[in-house]
Amino acid sequence: RAFARRAVRRFMPGEDLGAALDAATPLAATGIRTVVTALGERVTNRAEAEAVRDHYVRVLDEVRRRGLPTQPSVKLTHLGLDVDRGLCVASLRALAAYAESVGSFVWVDIEESHYVDATLDVFRQARAASDRVGLCLQAYLRRTPDDLESLLALGASMRLVKGAYREPPSVAFPDKRDVDAAYERLAERMLQAAADGTGGLPVFGTHDLALVERIRLRAGSLRLPPQGWEVHMLYGIRTAEQHALARSGVSVRTLISYGTHWFPWYVRRLAERPANVWFVVRSLVS
Ligand code: FDA
Repeated sequence: RAFARRAVRRFMPGEDLGAALDAATPLAATGIRTVVTALGERVTNRAEAEAVRDHYVRVLDEVRRRGLPTQPSVKLTHLGLDVDRGLCVASLRALAAYAESVGSFVWVDIEESHYVDATLDVFRQARAASDRVGLCLQAYLRRTPDDLESLLALGASMRLVKGAYREPPSVAFPDKRDVDAAYERLAERMLQAAADGTGGLPVFGTHDLALVERIRLRAGSLRLPPQGWEVHMLYGIRTAEQHALARSGVSVRTLISYGTHWFPWYVRRLAERPANVWFVVRSLVS
């Protein structure tokens, strides 16, 4: 429906790669680098999974052609995790190798908790072949401290987020305060590892500005250089603050989503902040 499309526009500049990269261009001019992701998940056959892999190869090509500081981020169920794990490993390895050849990097998103073991397995196999691949971790999961330790041992770059899916309390902290506290502990561990030279690049995917400020102070006290850690935020959320952070010397990347399969992703954005539902209602009225 047109009103839903209008509401979604706030978080997504358009449905195709061109629109995402057009939005990345002025951001790059202001010192904000970007990550792009094609919306979609849980493909059900090899042909679709291979088409997604080929699409991301085109993303890397187009990013290079435009000379943008932009990295792709992929969901493994979009790359065929449910269809054939071997294919998914091969595709992620191929993308990481291609990213390496064009001087880029590939991020792996993390999905519902029942995919975490498989995601880590695929990630480890890809990471064994190339260091141009990093993984997202969710602070709300009770298992994440252990996962973080095993990934730090590999020297992997990680993007820490709070977690966006509805999970049972046995698996994830139901109370937001516990999630926030877990995030801080994990962030501290990632910063420490970076300061010790044992971890990869620590990335903090959050719009929680108070948390970002504490991370910035901690990074400073550990004498991490500004390029030694990053903050990633979503397109359309806290835009002014993203610019202010970048101006103040923080390495900021904006994650821009695009594609026609935006419905489940958009519902997650609404769930994170129920006030966003008003944008839908206002778009309906206007
Ligand atoms: P929190 O929810 O505490 O919000 C802090 C403040 O930010 C809020 O008070 C509000 O003002 C603002 N805010 C947050 N969300 C908003 C929204 N949707 N609209 C408007 N304002 C909002 N999750 C996942 O499970 N797997 C993944 O792979 C990823 N990947 C990912 C990458 C990046 C770059 C980001 C920024 C986020 C993700 N996420 C994710 C989503 C993440 O798990 C989480 O749901 C959201 O980032 C919201 O949590 P915050 O950390 O922003 O904090």
